[in-house]
Amino acid sequence: MFVSLLLRAAVVAAAPSIVERGSSAITVSKHMPQDAASSILAPFVSFSIEFSSFPDFAGNKSRPNKFSNQLLDNLADLQGVKPYIRVGGNTQDFALYDPNLKTQINGTVVLSESADYPSIISIGPSFFEAYETWPGTKFSHGFNLGKNTTEAMDTLIATVPLACKALSNGRLAHWELGNEPDLFKGKVRPSTWLESDYVGEWLSKSRIIKRQLSQACPGMVTKGAYKYLAPSFAGTGNKLDPVKTWEVGLDTDHDIGMNSMHNYMGGADSPGVTLAHTLMNHTAVVQSVAHHVGVMKDLQEKGLTKDVPYILGEMNSLYHQGKPGLSNSFGAALWGVDFNLYCASQNIRRTHMHQGTDYRYASWQPVQTTKTTIGTKPPYYGNAMVAAMLRGREPDAVQIVNLPTGPETDAAYAAYVSGKLARLAVINMQEYNYTSDAGSASRPSATYQFHLPEVSAKSLSVQRLLANGTDAITGITWDGWSYNYELQGGAPVRLTNVTAGQSVQVDSEGWVALELPHSSAAILNIS
Ligand SMILES: *[C@@H]1O[C@H](CO)[C@@H](O)[C@H](O)[C@H]1NC(C)=O
Ligand SMILES: *[C@@H]1O[C@H](CO)[C@@H](O)[C@H](O)[C@H]1NC(C)=O
Ligand SMILES: *[C@@H]1O[C@H](CO)[C@@H](O)[C@H](O)[C@H]1NC(C)=O
Ligand SMILES: *[C@@H]1O[C@H](CO)[C@@H](O)[C@H](O)[C@H]1NC(C)=O
Ligand SMILES: *[C@@H]1O[C@H](CO)[C@@H](O)[C@H](O)[C@H]1NC(C)=O
Ligand SMILES: *[C@@H]1O[C@H](CO)[C@@H](O)[C@H](O)[C@H]1NC(C)=O
Ligand SMILES: *[C@@H]1O[C@H](CO)[C@@H](O)[C@H](O)[C@H]1NC(C)=O
Repeated sequence: MFVSLLLRAAVVAAAPSIVERGSSAITVSKHMPQDAASSILAPFVSFSIEFSSFPDFAGNKSRPNKFSNQLLDNLADLQGVKPYIRVGGNTQDFALYDPNLKTQINGTVVLSESADYPSIISIGPSFFEAYETWPGTKFSHGFNLGKNTTEAMDTLIATVPLACKALSNGRLAHWELGNEPDLFKGKVRPSTWLESDYVGEWLSKSRIIKRQLSQACPGMVTKGAYKYLAPSFAGTGNKLDPVKTWEVGLDTDHDIGMNSMHNYMGGADSPGVTLAHTLMNHTAVVQSVAHHVGVMKDLQEKGLTKDVPYILGEMNSLYHQGKPGLSNSFGAALWGVDFNLYCASQNIRRTHMHQGTDYRYASWQPVQTTKTTIGTKPPYYGNAMVAAMLRGREPDAVQIVNLPTGPETDAAYAAYVSGKLARLAVINMQEYNYTSDAGSASRPSATYQFHLPEVSAKSLSVQRLLANGTDAITGITWDGWSYNYELQGGAPVRLTNVTAGQSVQVDSEGWVALELPHSSAAILNIS
């Protein structure tokens, strides 16, 4: 049934003249519109890994995690640059250093805090070996700002040399000091804590880091190399205002490399959260990103962050590590494509999707546990499509434009590379539950029409993001490729039972039609 549906798409594609040219056709110019967003940073597709889960994801020198490295290499092949890895999250502000610890980490889960990660944490010297297991990867290391004790100060002083040595040889992207410090207010800091208090503390502790660096790794305090992700605010609860934080002098030392903020669509336990309402909904994506667009506008008007790119240093579908059945389904992969491409169209120049062991929204589970099977999870396939859409490396400038579509279950984007139209992406987010709907009617599909008046190519290749349905948690493919662990440890394997290698014809007037099964997405390659 699935295969015949795709064949139907192929038949339509071969005879575009029979497709009605509805008023919903989208005209796309070959040349980049004047108001297009700034070019994305390469790499755009990047990850944030929970500090306490980093040894699981990366391993150590004697036991590097090759599966994770393979998945990162696949994305490097697709987007042109290997994803950057931010190591941080809630647990970075719990971690204390124990020089005698023989393992990478000793974590104790405190159920009243969270069942998903340890809240009492020591790290040993071998924690830092994890930075040396993935060749050609750049990282940011997250220091503890949350704890303000003698032990925390000792940790800062002792771990700067370990971190800088592990991150030498080109492995450092940025430093980070504190995760979501806006949420410290009223929790690990008094409820009277202000933006200026945070900035004062951040400046004094970052200067300690710099002092330690200049002793242990003097090559890493040069102007170009010494940079932070900050302020890394959660942005929820209106506790500290990011704009005010910049105003009161966050960048006094001119060492902020990325204006990093965090984002989630909602909470895993919030009432009314569903795939159709919360994730597979372009309106909801636009609303979620609007907060950042507002902050950026305000910062720009006040001239506060001129040369500091705005990024999401931690983001994923639903906070509290995702919701089973939603965040780990193919539907969440489709959300990830829409969300990330929309960010790229709104001057958010890189996104780090947050990962952790046993997290429901994770793109992959790096080790076998009693809760979760090791393997590549559906969101990873969304990462693959985003990487393919944003492909490019300097000096190419990749810019994304959000194209107008009708229903909130549709989204479409154009990618311009060095000013020329290179690719179109279309996402259909209509639910199709194959476990319940299959066996009834055949899977519905939708046809999208584009008018490309200046494009000379007569045939455009199609790459599809496919699964049996919205609720699929396995059997997902990108352009016919499986990256599943069970096949070749995450290395790409071309499957023969899914449609790949299709093309669609552009007629003499520049019209082209693309059919998508409900709950699927595709890229049309122009050049
Ligand atoms: C390296 O990882 C292996 C496998 O998890 C573990 O058994 C070993 O203790 C680790 N080595 C160090 C030095 O932490
Ligand atoms: C690990 O942490 C727990 C709880 O803090 C502690 O009781 C235990 O002794 C620690 N183990 C090691 C090997 O340090
Ligand atoms: C943090 O610790 C320092 C040194 O003990 C102290 O001066 C400062 O007041 C503390 N800050 C907060 C917010 O507790
Ligand atoms: C999509 O999201 C918007 C904004 O949150 C909401 O108003 C709308 O009801 C959602 N659509 C569905 C089908 O739930
Ligand atoms: C898919 O399944 C979800 C969860 O059971 C349900 O809420 C939704 O209505 C279903 N969608 C369709 C199109 O059947
Ligand atoms: C997907 O559907 C095909 C055809 O019905 C079936 O053979 C295959 O087992 C399904 N895959 C999964 C992962 O359910
Ligand atoms: C294609 O084959 C793979 C590997 O055997 C299987 O997991 C998947 O469900 C199949 N997909 C379809 C659509 O039949």
